[in-house]
Amino acid sequence: MNESSDFRLTRIALNNGSSHMPALGCGTLIPDPAESKAATKDALAAGFRHFDCAERYRNEREVGEALASSGIDREDIFVTTKLWNTNHRPERVEPAFEASRNRLGLSYLDLYLIHTPYAFQPGGEQDPRDQDGNVIYDNGVTLLDTWRAMESLVNHGKCRAIGLSDISLNELRPIYESARIKPAVVQVEAHPYLPEVELLEFCKEKGIVLLAFAPLGHGMRPGLLEDPVIVAIAAKVGKTPAQVLLAWAVQRGTAVLTTPKTEARARENFDISPLTEDAFNEINRIQTRQRLNEVVKTGVPGFIAR
Ligand SMILES: NC(=O)c1ccc[n+]([C@@H]2O[C@H](COP(=O)([O-])OP(=O)(O)OC[C@H]3O[C@@H](n4cnc5c(N)ncnc54)[C@H](OP(=O)(O)O)[C@@H]3O)[C@@H](O)[C@H]2O)c1
Repeated sequence: MNESSDFRLTRIALNNGSSHMPALGCGTLIPDPAESKAATKDALAAGFRHFDCAERYRNEREVGEALASSGIDREDIFVTTKLWNTNHRPERVEPAFEASRNRLGLSYLDLYLIHTPYAFQPGGEQDPRDQDGNVIYDNGVTLLDTWRAMESLVNHGKCRAIGLSDISLNELRPIYESARIKPAVVQVEAHPYLPEVELLEFCKEKGIVLLAFAPLGHGMRPGLLEDPVIVAIAAKVGKTPAQVLLAWAVQRGTAVLTTPKTEARARENFDISPLTEDAFNEINRIQTRQRLNEVVKTGVPGFIAR
């Protein structure tokens, strides 16, 4: 599936033949839109050609402006965005997609993901709550209903591939079985403390790309970046802990998203190279287990302020 042994250039073919996703991607989950724009420009200058966006991040316009100002051919950039929980009703899917596409200023999207499998009360409020502060879910729509509407987007040609995010293997299987257009990508939290081995095996068997988020532990300190195994390998190979963690993700056949917020971090996070087999296996043997983002349990994003 991997096209190049240079991890900076590795691209993974999507199962519907629509395009290739650069394995190393840049996330745009940055609360300040102006900072998102600057970070996107820095990431493009460093070499990133894969950008992960979302309606929920409220910065698609600024990310789109940065992409447009780069002058890089559209075909050379892979752009994903995501359908938010309040838009799961089939009749809301295309309008939500079009709104995202317009904010990004793009004629097509490479990938559109269902952000989480949880449907929230439809409407303009992204975080609908009752008077006791509990999320208001929407029981009037199933994930398969939403998936069917996603499939029609691909048929209409403005979206090249579709997938799911924050989903467990148990939730993915029935969608995979019923799908007319199979999911091309599944985006989940994954790193050495949450390797998602079973899900990755399923994805590899079905030709689905597993796209890992929080590969550096979302900047939570102390954490993965201070793990003694990672730190020792980094010192040995002359790389930083962040570069080791990103390389590990690509080496195990996943795509990976990281969020560099400065020019120096963008250059650092793009400059990754393969690990020795020993180093790779040593990371696979890390026993610590930790999930950082509880979004998979409720659909409420763990890394985004309400
Ligand atoms: N589907 C979902 O529900 C979901 C959830 C989360 C994320 N995502 C996507 O995945 C992307 C990546 O996730 P993430 O932001 O959690 O990734 P991450 O790379 O694990 O964490 C990013 C944080 O790590 C720190 N960092 C980045 N580069 C570093 C370096 N070289 N050395 C030391 N620290 C470094 C920064 O924290 P400081 O700035 O604090 O130093 C940065 O904010 C997001 O932008 C978003 O697109 C999706």
